[in-house]
Amino acid sequence: MATVDLKDVKKTYAGNVVAVKGVSIAVPDGQLCVLVGPSGCGKSTLLRMIAGLETITDGTVSIDGKVVNTIGPAERDIAMVFQNYALYPHMKVYDNMAYGLRNRGMGKDEIDKRVRETAKILELGALLERRPRELSGGQRQRVAMGRAIVRSPKVFLFDEPLSNLDAKLRGQMRVEIKNLQRTLGVTSVYVTHDQLEAMTLADVLVVMNGGLVEQVGNPLDIYEKPASTFVASFIGAPPMNLLPLTDSANGATLSDGTAVPQAPKGAAILGVRPEDADVAVGAAASAGGLSLPATVEGVEPVGAESFLYCAAGGQKIIVRVSGRSPANPGDTLKVVAKAEKLHWFDTAGKRV
Ligand SMILES: Nc1ncnc2c1ncn2[C@@H]1O[C@H](COP(=O)(O)OP(=O)(O)OP(=O)(O)O)[C@@H](O)[C@H]1O
Ligand SMILES: [Mg+2]
Repeated sequence: MATVDLKDVKKTYAGNVVAVKGVSIAVPDGQLCVLVGPSGCGKSTLLRMIAGLETITDGTVSIDGKVVNTIGPAERDIAMVFQNYALYPHMKVYDNMAYGLRNRGMGKDEIDKRVRETAKILELGALLERRPRELSGGQRQRVAMGRAIVRSPKVFLFDEPLSNLDAKLRGQMRVEIKNLQRTLGVTSVYVTHDQLEAMTLADVLVVMNGGLVEQVGNPLDIYEKPASTFVASFIGAPPMNLLPLTDSANGATLSDGTAVPQAPKGAAILGVRPEDADVAVGAAASAGGLSLPATVEGVEPVGAESFLYCAAGGQKIIVRVSGRSPANPGDTLKVVAKAEKLHWFDTAGKRV
């Protein structure tokens, strides 16, 4: 049982590199918090500060209500799983898992019990006598998880633990990690730059950008109401279409002069998710919705759905439809979207 609380945490590295500019996050007991953001935005730095592997320049990190800024990593009772697994190559799976417990002076019988129980949970029972090089990537990943679980820590920290696996295995392990975390109920912080992984794993999703938090919340709330164009284009794939608006005498227009009468005051960017847009031939959109004359430039069928690349309003717009594409390259039609599916952002990229 533990909560993790960050209050205005900052990190400046030697050479005046400001990696984290003031981050506050509260992770409730037993929940999985995912930090997502582009490369270099400070995710690993933040995680390492929680772990105690990096000094905290300013602010506080608390575990279970206790400030741990000056407490060493070993005393924080947390376990970290890294991208490269960091297994000991010369040790058998059993010893890799037992190592940390032996170091803490735990009795042989207790160690044996814990290692075997954990191995059972992770289906590693048959592999305990192997060395890491005799395992597949997914199995190594499981051993790294096992090494963290066996210690029954207060908090799990994960730094891109699945990024060395192929797409299919990554999907499987994602489900396993989620189930395991739920079953064990251990408060966790998980770092990834993969928005799909972030969406599917998170109880609390934290979108970071340039050392700051852009948005915190439930993943679907963030998907439905992104607070900024940055979040809008980072969460969801393909990303949200973002169309700049110009203020003219007759109201907002797109770059080719198409009027957008429904634009609210202060809106400088119109956002439409590919899955919220559709194409229509001839028919007008429902009242208040978007209806832009468009030309289909390309079609990508991927089986269950198709992506239509359209030129509309002087912009490129991606439309995602289920099944086969109703149109072909060269067709002229309309890109339509319901009024309630439109997003509006101001000149600073903030949601209107
Ligand atoms: N030891 C260090 N000394 C100086 N600067 C560092 C150090 N470690 C990281 N940085 C810088 O701090 C910033 C944040 O790095 P960090 O590793 O936290 O990013 P990240 O979000 O984890 O990125 P990635 O997705 O690529 O792993 C980067 O600009 C990086 O170059
Ligand atoms: Mg990193």
